[in-house]
Amino acid sequence: MTITGHNHFFVKHLLEWNRQQNTRQMPWKGEKDPYKIWLSEIILQQTRVDQGLEYYNRFIATFPDVHQLAAAPETTVFKLWEGLGYYTRCKNIIATAKFISQQLNGQFPDQYEAILQLKGIGPYTAAAIASFAFNLPHAVVDGNVFRVLARYFGIATATDSLQGKLQFTLLANELLDKQQPGIYNQALMDFGAVICKPQLPLCATCVLKNKCVAYTDDQVNQLPVKEKKIKKTTRWFYYLVVEYKNKLYVRKRAAKDIWENLYEFILIEDDKPVQPEKIAGLQKVKEIFKSVSFEIIQISPVYKQLLTHQTIQGQFIKVIIEKKLAVDDYKLFTAEEINTLPFPKFITAYLKDKNVSLNLF
Ligand code: ADE
Repeated sequence: MTITGHNHFFVKHLLEWNRQQNTRQMPWKGEKDPYKIWLSEIILQQTRVDQGLEYYNRFIATFPDVHQLAAAPETTVFKLWEGLGYYTRCKNIIATAKFISQQLNGQFPDQYEAILQLKGIGPYTAAAIASFAFNLPHAVVDGNVFRVLARYFGIATATDSLQGKLQFTLLANELLDKQQPGIYNQALMDFGAVICKPQLPLCATCVLKNKCVAYTDDQVNQLPVKEKKIKKTTRWFYYLVVEYKNKLYVRKRAAKDIWENLYEFILIEDDKPVQPEKIAGLQKVKEIFKSVSFEIIQISPVYKQLLTHQTIQGQFIKVIIEKKLAVDDYKLFTAEEINTLPFPKFITAYLKDKNVSLNLF
């Protein structure tokens, strides 16, 4: 079979599978409003479909159009994003919504290059919006696409190498059905999610298996190939939950890493575990309390959150004080106010936990 024949078989059977057997339903499928497609694609950048669904529905219900999103207080938007992770996405949707609402009169750009210029949008998301909303001929190349193409064509180039990205992008665009790019792109993503899954793919019933190189050569579990292994670090977060006159000290996190713009209690960070009883003796803690005497009234169990590149572990230490602290960035908030602020999952897990519930709550 010629290369072109191999390509043709792929496209024909993928589209046939899509017409006859693809029962995957998602609210953004077939959607033409670029605003809604954009929101769904940003949510799905680093989130699984089942987790992203309820966030998508809540965003659309709360902000039916770009003007309403642009006009909302930032904390409200972050509160709605709470729990989704990768909060730079939220910062970017706020900036992009304001840009479209104020500079473009609410008109979403309808050309690939202009879409790509928007904050938080890379080649993948630009191709998704361009093809779904405007039927423009740009192939999406995401994890699903890498996997399906690597297996069907037997390509062992690392998908996270520059060469791999180029090779897969070229191939994906060569295969793209230029008459119906939106339908084709969604079909390929669905096929990767439903049939050609990372684990336990459904090869036995796959419509492409007769010409799938990985299937024929028994390489399905070896493809796709990645170059880099993710290196994980562990960080230890000890949160001092400091109560003064029925209020708690909380600040907005400014550090340019995880959880930027989310709120947190007084943080003592270490790269190794610390006995919570010994926290009071740390220099960093002495600097915060200075001459204010404090009483530890509760120490939580260890909480843990797994992120892609790091593991966060730590504990919450509840402290009562009678005099105010001399701290700039931390401010006092009532329980009611705290309920409206966006926190990282690590902290909401603690706040929700009945066993450690604060006297305040
Ligand atoms: N992941 C990213 N975009 C998607 C989409 N449109 N459908 C399903 N999964 C996706």
